[in-house]
Amino acid sequence: MTTRHDEGPVALSGHRVRLREFTLADLDGVRGVVGDDRVTHFLSFNTRNEEQAQELLRTIVERAQQRPRSEYYLAITPLQPESAADVDKAVGFTRLQRTNEHSGRLVYAIAHAHQGRGYAGDAVRTLLDFAFGTLRLHRVTAAVGPDNRAGLALVKRLGFTREGVLRDHVRVSGGWRDSVLFSMLAPEWPSPRAV
Ligand SMILES: CC(C)(COP(=O)(O)OP(=O)(O)OC[C@H]1O[C@@H](n2cnc3c(N)ncnc32)[C@H](O)[C@@H]1OP(=O)(O)O)[C@@H](O)C(=O)NCCC(=O)NCCS
Repeated sequence: MTTRHDEGPVALSGHRVRLREFTLADLDGVRGVVGDDRVTHFLSFNTRNEEQAQELLRTIVERAQQRPRSEYYLAITPLQPESAADVDKAVGFTRLQRTNEHSGRLVYAIAHAHQGRGYAGDAVRTLLDFAFGTLRLHRVTAAVGPDNRAGLALVKRLGFTREGVLRDHVRVSGGWRDSVLFSMLAPEWPSPRAV
């Protein structure tokens, strides 16, 4: 289920999760991801406090209004929440940044308490269907830290190809970190559904 990306908000359903636009009411969910060292340790920025998380959320909501859209920064919500408090709760995010007309860059993260349930795998698969199907992108990349076992497992399981190492790619907590660059091309994606 989705709406046309060029006409309104994006809403996509996978098997386990739904991807929807963030709203300003998602601060708790955003903090659960960007405010937790256990998650941000593997991302390209340092942990954010409440004010910084609020600013990030405002930016995400603003950018979602831009046309043409340069990014799809979507909230991941479980289709079968474990508790009433988790209904429609943003337990993570997927971000697809358009790098040019034909390409995009992917980032994904799940709050620590909700990891290991297949949410990220389903979210990324659903977003790639959208990227290759609806947006007609040709190439999507993901840059993952060399020690990030869960992040690496996910792109490998989805069939991404390893391209090489981006040296000193991100600066976090006062140090430089390499990334391993992975890509998926449209003809390699098993079943892009134009949704
Ligand atoms: C990477 C991340 C998004 C995975 O989220 P998740 O919802 O737990 O992922 P899934 O449950 O869909 O599992 C994805 C794969 O990782 C594996 N995995 C999960 N945790 C793992 C761990 N600690 N060590 C090794 N593998 C792990 C799973 O077994 C699965 O692989 P499989 O299908 O081959 O078994 C999550 O760990 C996270 O947010 N990490 C911090 C942010 C990040 O690293 N983002 C990626 C870089 S952009």
